[in-house]
Amino acid sequence: MKRCIIFFVTILMCCTLNFKAEAAGDKCITCHKKVSTGRVSDWKTSKHYDEDITCSECHGNKHTKAENANLALFPDENKCGECHEEQFEQFASGKHNFGWTSLNALPITHVEPDELMEGGKGCGGCHNMGIKSEEQKKDQLKKGYRYQNNSCDECHTRHSFSKKEAQDPKACQQCHMGYDHPQYDMWDSSKHGTRYFVKEKGNLPKEASAPTCQFCHMPDGTHANKTAWGFLGVRLPLPKDKQWASDQVTILKALGVLNPETGEPTPRLDAVKSVDMVRLTAEDFNKERNKMISQCTHCHSKNYAQTQLEMGDKMLQKSDRLMAEGIEIVAKLYKDRIIKKPEHYTFAYPDLLFFKQTGGSYIDQVLFRMFMKYRMRTYQGVFHANPDYTYWYGWAAMTKSLGEIKELDKSMRATH
Ligand code: HEC
Ligand code: HEC
Ligand code: HEC
Ligand code: HEC
Ligand code: HEC
Ligand code: HEC
Ligand code: HEC
Ligand code: HEC
Repeated sequence: MKRCIIFFVTILMCCTLNFKAEAAGDKCITCHKKVSTGRVSDWKTSKHYDEDITCSECHGNKHTKAENANLALFPDENKCGECHEEQFEQFASGKHNFGWTSLNALPITHVEPDELMEGGKGCGGCHNMGIKSEEQKKDQLKKGYRYQNNSCDECHTRHSFSKKEAQDPKACQQCHMGYDHPQYDMWDSSKHGTRYFVKEKGNLPKEASAPTCQFCHMPDGTHANKTAWGFLGVRLPLPKDKQWASDQVTILKALGVLNPETGEPTPRLDAVKSVDMVRLTAEDFNKERNKMISQCTHCHSKNYAQTQLEMGDKMLQKSDRLMAEGIEIVAKLYKDRIIKKPEHYTFAYPDLLFFKQTGGSYIDQVLFRMFMKYRMRTYQGVFHANPDYTYWYGWAAMTKSLGEIKELDKSMRATH
């Protein structure tokens, strides 16, 4: 009997202890149930709720009432890392960790409105990815922006912080879509995506294979993501094929990474290197490529997978031929002073990293679109098994752009 009582008392104690800050009258929760109900109900669905990790764990306890809401702290990734070291370390060594820094490395970022950057309404809404340095945080606060301190909540949205949500390709969609990197749109309408959605509806058995973004890019749940070609589709050492190597050099000049007159590296190359924008050695490239192929071989033969990816490389090579031709036509207009060097340019040469604010002429914009929208789609489309993106929105549109550039060149020369 005595043992029984001790047992029950222990259970009771556990229950009350475990009966959560919520029931214990945690002030944050009692008040916030009224002022921002959705925050509390989301949190209640989280593992954090089960583990009694309450509001003040992440937001501190200095703010106690409406009047001092400005004292609430906003936790950055380091806070999450205190309890999730493994994911933190992986994330820190992956490509996502460079999102904010690479954004800020671009000249365009500093001529567009702050709302779109630090405020997160444009570029900054996707490039919030990455642990910010103290200096970057200060800069952001100085401009008046106090939110956007955390990138873990980009895939595990707050305050449910759910693993399942992050495993869904929808978690990647907000950022990997649209103009220059429509991976979600490509995957969604590829056979890989089709299988995924048909399976979701229950029209394929649960065991049916259907690769997600996460399966290919975050194998075994790793938070360190990186690909062989990356975003810009350039690499070092240059390809062995002479023409292709020369075309990539032309592209690197238009990216302002090589001096167009001397071919020597510019300071921008260091910026590009510092955020791992290009793989700098063959080993680095092959490491990522081989990792990817080993994911494909969960379902396909190695030979099949390799052949598919090599076609992606070939399409990049062929795109680079068109691209270099376009760049050279516009460069010649600069050289012949038919287009004047804009004041903010270092060289009288196209500068693609000014994005849509590029250049001294409309032809620069056609060139930029050809690079940023259509060249991207041509090879990204092959890699994501999407024939329509590869052809109509990619290759065919590149050919059309080159036609337009040639026409514009002719008329600009005729009317100069
Ligand atoms: C008496 C009510 C009350 C209590 C207690 C309270 N809050 Fe708040 N909190 C508010 C109000 C009101 C706001 C402002 C809401 C708004 O801007 O609409 C706020 C804002 C916040 C914000 C957002 C701040 C911002 O700048 O957007 C956070 C985070 C927060 N509270 C967390 C907490 C935490 C953690 C605790 C407990 C340590 C707590 N609150 C206690 C009422 C309260
Ligand atoms: C595991 C950490 C964590 C816990 C626990 C947590 N929050 Fe948050 N909360 C965050 C993060 C991260 C942000 C976003 C920070 C930013 O934007 O810089 C945030 C933002 C907020 C905001 C401001 C943004 C908005 O959407 O209004 C409020 C209000 C808020 N939390 C309330 C709460 C309340 C109330 C609780 C408890 C029920 C709570 N939080 C528990 C991590 C947490
Ligand atoms: C005080 C420790 C602590 C902090 C701080 C913390 N967590 Fe957790 N978190 C836990 C525990 C404990 C669990 C449950 C056990 C587990 O799944 O690892 C958990 C679970 C999770 C899960 C898995 C949820 C699921 O559906 O299985 C995610 C995702 C997560 N946390 C994200 C975050 C993020 C993002 C932050 C920062 C904003 C954060 N955590 C801060 C302790 C913490
Ligand atoms: C909040 C926006 C955002 C979300 C959500 C997001 N990403 Fe990203 N992703 C980015 C940005 C920004 C970059 C480029 C980072 C940089 O500047 O270095 C990137 C880069 C990548 C890269 C690296 C490409 C390279 O250069 O090699 C991969 C792979 C990737 N993301 C996959 C994913 C997957 C898979 C998901 C979903 C599970 C996802 N991302 C969710 C914004 C996002
Ligand atoms: C819809 C979300 C989104 C917006 C808006 C956005 N980006 Fe990105 N950005 C991404 C993603 C995702 C990647 C990675 C894509 C990939 O690897 O294919 C990326 C890649 C980049 C990269 C290359 C990073 C690298 O290391 O390879 C730079 C630089 C960049 N973006 C700058 C910008 C600038 C400047 C703007 C605004 C003018 C902008 N982005 C707007 C999502 C976005
Ligand atoms: C690009 C999207 C993305 C970002 C950003 C992200 N995660 Fe995750 N996270 C995932 C995915 C996908 C999984 C599920 C992995 C798996 O299938 O095992 C996951 C799983 C987790 C888990 C659960 C691990 C387990 O197996 O129980 C934790 C904890 C976690 N993440 C924490 C973090 C933290 C901390 C950060 C920020 C440093 C972060 N995540 C940023 C996508 C992301
Ligand atoms: C079947 C595997 C697979 C799936 C599913 C997949 N990808 Fe990819 N992804 C690839 C391959 C292969 C590459 C090119 C790798 C290389 O450069 O060698 C790639 C490249 C990328 C890149 C770098 C730029 C590019 O497109 O070449 C990003 C970013 C990316 N994927 C994001 C995503 C997102 C987001 C999803 C889901 C919507 C997704 N991927 C689905 C295989 C996949
Ligand atoms: C989880 C299993 C799985 C993985 C991993 C996977 N695939 Fe697939 N793939 C499929 C299925 C299922 C189909 C549709 C049916 C078929 O063709 O077998 C498909 C179709 C394709 C198609 C279209 C075939 C056609 O005839 O239209 C290509 C191309 C492709 N995959 C390439 C790849 C590449 C490259 C990788 C690795 C980057 C990869 N797949 C990874 C399962 C997978």
